[in-house]
Amino acid sequence: MTIQSKLPTVGTTIFTIMSKLAADEGAINLSQGYPDFNGPPRLLELVTESMHAGLNQYPPMTGIEPLREGIAGKVAELYGTVVDPVDEVTVTSGATEALFCAVHAIVRPGDEVIVFDPCYDSYEPAVTLAGGHCVHVPMTSDFAIDWQRAREAVTSKTRLVMVNSPHNPSGSVWTRDDIDGLRSLLALGDIYVVADEVYEHIVFDGRAHESLTRYPEIWAKSFVVSSFGKTYHVTGWKVGYAVAPRELTREFRKVHQFVTFTTPTPLQHALARFLDEYPDHHRELGAFYQAKRDLFVDLLRPSRFAFSPSAGTFFQLLDFSAITNEEDEALARRWTKEAKVASIPISLFYVEPPKQNILRFCFAKDDATLRQAAEVLCQL
Ligand SMILES: Cc1ncc(COP(=O)(O)O)c(C=O)c1O
Repeated sequence: MTIQSKLPTVGTTIFTIMSKLAADEGAINLSQGYPDFNGPPRLLELVTESMHAGLNQYPPMTGIEPLREGIAGKVAELYGTVVDPVDEVTVTSGATEALFCAVHAIVRPGDEVIVFDPCYDSYEPAVTLAGGHCVHVPMTSDFAIDWQRAREAVTSKTRLVMVNSPHNPSGSVWTRDDIDGLRSLLALGDIYVVADEVYEHIVFDGRAHESLTRYPEIWAKSFVVSSFGKTYHVTGWKVGYAVAPRELTREFRKVHQFVTFTTPTPLQHALARFLDEYPDHHRELGAFYQAKRDLFVDLLRPSRFAFSPSAGTFFQLLDFSAITNEEDEALARRWTKEAKVASIPISLFYVEPPKQNILRFCFAKDDATLRQAAEVLCQL
């Protein structure tokens, strides 16, 4: 018997493939987006303490109260908007779950969802499973959104737009013009927004993160999603959250309740206490990663790669046109095997990849790893 797949074009993600190849080949792994260093020792201790204190049974479906309060406090402090921790904040099992629940809260069969390519790989399967259809709008060659083109993609079926800043894979960051662009798009219909802000604290060179929670009239139609994994160097914990107005949160929770119901109790308690004890951790994260970006790009200056330093996230794009004309996917595999440095080909983030020669490298790595990788890259 064969199953008729609901996701016929989905295979194993490139992140899994490249990380496995890097491990098999003994290559430096700058492919998948996770740190090769540990989270803060106190945070790890707090998980053990929570477990020994007996905090091991089901927590509330919405997330434990102190963590929801911590999230609401952070949103108020950073973005100036008061959100209700009871009815407008939900803790989820990673941002991935939050994105999935938000899509399923809104999208019905036949609805259209605007996404911008290159686009994070979990968006489209979530939309497809909800019976919706993604309309892919390409970003410009410098990874900005062409809002004129985005507006032209709106039809009477457009129900949702999914946005991501700071942006994976490009490292581009929204400006106030993008907020105006989004506002102009939302004026065209009854359209909701999923804002993927998992890299909200990782912006560089004095930029400010344009969270949609800053703009009450936009947030009124938005699910704003973030991830503790990125902020506390613990991507494997899979703890994230969604902040959305009450009415949207009500629908969101109906889905969340039956997707995971909740997220491991000791992790939630540890994060709530750490957020309270070390509020400076997320405030300092941008500077922490900016130093890594600076180290990496400075070491790469003598190389044959072309690049502009990433504006946010922990990814750096490198254009290899001066080295080879190979397809990025084949090249990423070849360099993992031969040069022993693994990266991610960005053509896979598009439905119709443009002609460009770009690989994505993750710099959430120890300085020694970055030095070692840069030395190899400079020889290519
Ligand atoms: C843009 C983007 N969104 C969502 C996620 C998923 O976050 P989480 O691990 O919390 O599910 C990632 C992880 O790499 C990401 O880069």
